Amino acid sequence: MDSEHAARPLEGRHILLGITGSIAAYKAAVLCRLLKTAGADVRVMMTPLSKQFITPLTLATLSKNPILVEFFDPENGAWNSHVALGEWADCYLIAPATANTLAKMAAGIADNLLLTTYLSARCRVVVAPAMDLDMYAHHATQQNLRRLAEQGVGIVEPQEGELASGLTGKGRMAEPHQIVAFVEEMLAEKKKTLAGKHLIVTAGATIEQIDPVRFISNHSSGKMGYAIAAELALRGARVTLVSGRTALPTPAGVERVDVLSAEEMYRAAAAAFEEADGGVMCAAVADYTPVEVSPTKLKKSEGEMTVTLRRTHDIAAELGARKGKRLLVGFALETDQEADNAEAKLIRKHFDFIVLNSLRDPGAGFRGDTNKVTLIDRRGHEELPLMNKRDVAVRIVERIERFFER
Ligand code: C5P
Repeated sequence: MDSEHAARPLEGRHILLGITGSIAAYKAAVLCRLLKTAGADVRVMMTPLSKQFITPLTLATLSKNPILVEFFDPENGAWNSHVALGEWADCYLIAPATANTLAKMAAGIADNLLLTTYLSARCRVVVAPAMDLDMYAHHATQQNLRRLAEQGVGIVEPQEGELASGLTGKGRMAEPHQIVAFVEEMLAEKKKTLAGKHLIVTAGATIEQIDPVRFISNHSSGKMGYAIAAELALRGARVTLVSGRTALPTPAGVERVDVLSAEEMYRAAAAAFEEADGGVMCAAVADYTPVEVSPTKLKKSEGEMTVTLRRTHDIAAELGARKGKRLLVGFALETDQEADNAEAKLIRKHFDFIVLNSLRDPGAGFRGDTNKVTLIDRRGHEELPLMNKRDVAVRIVERIERFFER
């Protein structure tokens, strides 16, 4: 890649920037500027309400194009064709995207130019949600985001922090530079090397209920598995993501099946694996579950109490036993004798390769955004440096591509 291209990664790209009525609209000016600096040709479309938050003059000046708000100009009747705009754009970026606009997009409502253009857009669509924490957490909003993600809309996750309401929580629009990085990555063409392949990915933590209130679980955030699912989808695979509890949005183009317990995950993964070309077993599955689940909340009493546990299905091992020539990738999170334990699992569970995380390595494993892993197959070890989980996912998916090339 030459330095000019690296500095202007959106050179020649057409970005339609949609702005909706959120206080975060003030950041759209910086966003527009960054898109221009990255080389993009930007046209800005605003909902009528968003003009209360930022002036069309500011955005017209920064984008060097007139702003689009209405279907036609009332002065001269000039028509803004939503179809032509959707065709012009390489990416339709809606930032900030309010709960209201997301809901209408998910439902297919088209009562302004911005929404009508969404319905006719053939290009990649990205939204950067911005709203109050309760609106973001509301199941209606979460369902709408899920539906949009499954339709292939890219979602730039909002951040935790101080909100305009004075409350603190998740809902702040991602920073403009993060949104531009998301768009750049999305438009960086990946070859659809996995087109026609169907892969299942298990991710996140399972929850084993003790009573209606308490459960046994673990610290898995699901980030590694979600990053792998996203990367597989980017390369054209059909992806079924069987997900335990996480707080993550569904990656674009991925079918997600939510489960809670190890038993539910086993059933969902085994059913999806029937028709699949392979699987990536990334979930942190409980090895034990309570023999009995109390239907009522257990009362405390003096002295000790015992919960008897029984083994769960080892999903990876069971899929490994029936995989045949299909692909199976496993994970191992070890605290001691890391390589030996991982190698034993590679063989016992019939993995094609296993990704070893060591809890000894700072920056590796649960929760964080980085991971330090070693990829182990029957031929040897490849130790990777500390990387962010998205880059680790790229390396894992490159190995998966090589498996299917054979
Ligand atoms: O044996 P261990 O739990 O360390 O193996 C880890 C690997 O097995 C991971 O790929 C994990 O997703 C998978 N696994 C599973 N079902 C279980 C336990 C682990 O799929 N019950």
